[in-house]
Amino acid sequence: MLTKEEKINKILRLKKEKNAIILAHYYQDGDIQDIADFVGDSLALSQRATQVDEDIILFCGVHFMAETSKILNPSKKVVIPDLNAGCSLADSAKPEEFQKWIEQYPDSVVVTYINSTAEIKAMSDLICTSSNAVKIVESIPKDKKVLFAPDKFLGAYVRLSTGRYLELWNGTCQVHEMFSEEKVIQLTNEHPDAIVLAHPECPPNILKYAHIIGSTTKIIDTAVNSKDTKFIILTEPGVIHEMKKRAPQKTYIDVPNLDGCSCNECPYMRLNTLDKIINSLETLQPEIEIPEEIRLKALIPIQRMLEISK
Ligand code: 13P
Ligand code: SF4
Repeated sequence: MLTKEEKINKILRLKKEKNAIILAHYYQDGDIQDIADFVGDSLALSQRATQVDEDIILFCGVHFMAETSKILNPSKKVVIPDLNAGCSLADSAKPEEFQKWIEQYPDSVVVTYINSTAEIKAMSDLICTSSNAVKIVESIPKDKKVLFAPDKFLGAYVRLSTGRYLELWNGTCQVHEMFSEEKVIQLTNEHPDAIVLAHPECPPNILKYAHIIGSTTKIIDTAVNSKDTKFIILTEPGVIHEMKKRAPQKTYIDVPNLDGCSCNECPYMRLNTLDKIINSLETLQPEIEIPEEIRLKALIPIQRMLEISK
């Protein structure tokens, strides 16, 4: 049985030996964020995946994120510590039903959140992330009907921000939809001086308490760079690791449920562990594989997004 330090040293050695880069999302355990070569939100991770020189990308996040890296950089072997690291949003959109939905609205523009499978991306016109969803929808001519999938809460937020009517797919993030309004009221009453930071995957009854709404990067940067010193964090608590590193003197208040359940931790993200990372680097498995026909179709709307986000 290796100690944590021995595991970390082993990972760093294997990473060199295999010529691998570790990309990680802010919802990973702090130890995983610390051994990563790059940590970011979904948009930054996609942008970084296009610039990899190493032979192997070990992606510490969830499946759709690793899949996006493979779509963008197919010559690299992309491995993920646990193939079961899925996402309730990606699971909510199945290709057959999605195709039927699109067919109901001919001549519309299909904007799909990056939290979706490669097959669904391949059926879309534009991809967006939480950091550019408003900008992406605003890039579409006003006379076009827009379908937005799969996150109905992000879609509702984009509707409000753009003043445009969007047809919404009925998907949710099982983590962000679990925040308790009662708990948020309790915490804001206890800490009237705290700034409330929320991810747009939260439902409207939670977002209405937020001072700032944005992607994980925006939430972290706001907490670190603002002159305020206390923050209530309405997203996965993994982001607090980076906040504490960059601004350790500030107070970050995590929001578990009323019964104390840590339902705000993403069960998929948290499947990744140091042991599984060692296994992935040793075996170069499990590997992300996408049929080339689907990859090529999915690449087009992702590239459009990257172009608009420049
Ligand atoms: P970000 O793109 O804001 O990092 O969010 C990804 C995600 O899965 C949020 O639940
Ligand atoms: Fe998916 Fe929600 Fe987990 Fe993000 S937090 S990966 S949207 S289940």
